[in-house]
Amino acid sequence: MNLQLIYISVLMFGVAGLLLFMYLQAWIEEQHTVSEEKLQQQAFNQDFKFCSTVKTARTRNWIAAGNPDKPSKALAKNGHYQGDGGPLLQIKDLLTTRLSEEPQNIKFLLKQFKQANLPSVMHPLNKNFIRDDSWKATNEMQERRRSFLYDFCKKYVSEHRPRTHLVRMVSRIYVEEQHKLLYCEVPKAGCSNWKRVLMVLSGLAKSAANITHDAVHYGKHLKKLDSYDLKGIHMRLKTYTKVIFVRDPMERLVSAFRDKFEHPNSYYHPVFGKAIIQKYRPNADREALKTGSGVRFKEFIQYLLDSHRPVGMDTHWEQINKLCYPCIISYDFIGKFETLEEDANYFLRLIGAPEELTFPNFKDRHSTDRRTNPEVVRKYLEEIPNRERQQTYNFYYLDYLMFNYTVPYTEP
Ligand SMILES: *[C@@H]1O[C@H](CO)[C@@H](O)[C@H](O)[C@H]1NC(C)=O
Ligand SMILES: *[C@@H]1O[C@H](CO)[C@@H](O)[C@H](O)[C@H]1NC(C)=O
Repeated sequence: MNLQLIYISVLMFGVAGLLLFMYLQAWIEEQHTVSEEKLQQQAFNQDFKFCSTVKTARTRNWIAAGNPDKPSKALAKNGHYQGDGGPLLQIKDLLTTRLSEEPQNIKFLLKQFKQANLPSVMHPLNKNFIRDDSWKATNEMQERRRSFLYDFCKKYVSEHRPRTHLVRMVSRIYVEEQHKLLYCEVPKAGCSNWKRVLMVLSGLAKSAANITHDAVHYGKHLKKLDSYDLKGIHMRLKTYTKVIFVRDPMERLVSAFRDKFEHPNSYYHPVFGKAIIQKYRPNADREALKTGSGVRFKEFIQYLLDSHRPVGMDTHWEQINKLCYPCIISYDFIGKFETLEEDANYFLRLIGAPEELTFPNFKDRHSTDRRTNPEVVRKYLEEIPNRERQQTYNFYYLDYLMFNYTVPYTEP
């Protein structure tokens, strides 16, 4: 009898203990969730402040601003210049190491941003208009580029997320309504000819060959995406085919310099040339100071790398990732200047452009000049000291990574 009572008491204590334990567990979990929610709320209230911190961290690590050794060391350590493993693996390493250094809550916040903002879908290319096999290789290359950028952005976007308003982010994008196209303009990567093609596609011109350079750039025939209201912008971003054409960063830079500073120019010489000569050329003569003509590549690079530039940036040498935001606006088609005609003509077939329309290959400005190619680039780069050359690579680091361009190795 006594024994039975003891047995029952022990059992009841056990059950009570178990219930208490379960209750406590639930309570702790609830508290945890509440604090996470609070954290999340704070994050969204303070997102501006938060993001500027991240930006500083990134700048400190990768952009050379006054501290060139750090990024190059980090890169060298990860074997970037040797080109083994591909940039994606290295960025992953960099990211993982650095993220784990951040406090736990920052990591959590980054995750929130990523989930809230990244449309993590890669739409398949619509190949309804392609009738034969002749584009097979081009298509395979295109698919590789697309998934490369997609994978890169998936890993990178939390860090790289810019605090820019949507309307500004789409301000470089041209709209072609007939074929439902969005083309992000990257200067010095075939953009004049692209605009000609867009004008033909939209019925503004009969043939690309007839459109003069001035009509292309100052004609105001093509509509920009930022001229629509927010609803119109969102609808088009969601349903139109988005295309971007890019170019090797250093080739693009040299090409911009040659175009703007080695030929008479009534805007770039007085606005940029004057300021550059004034700040970076000791004992400049009166004539040069007055006209702003004759800027040397070395001086131009000094200006580019200066954290206190005497004049602002310009779209011709701004980073592609800051012109077109490729990790936010998921482009359907990534063309490269290096394979411009092949990519462009495949794209025209993809969208069902008239068969007689092919991508024009003329160079309308300074057509007697040699095109900027790797050999020309090498000549220009020889003029600037190693340290600055390295800083210039660092400046375009993201563009190199996103589009799988190889950073040339600089001798130490
Ligand atoms: C990236 O570039 C390397 C070197 O040029 C090349 O071998 C590789 O196939 C490229 N990767 C993709 C996904 O295009
Ligand atoms: C367009 O070019 C063709 C031949 O290149 C020429 O015959 C025609 O007159 C031009 N049209 C215009 C509007 O300039």
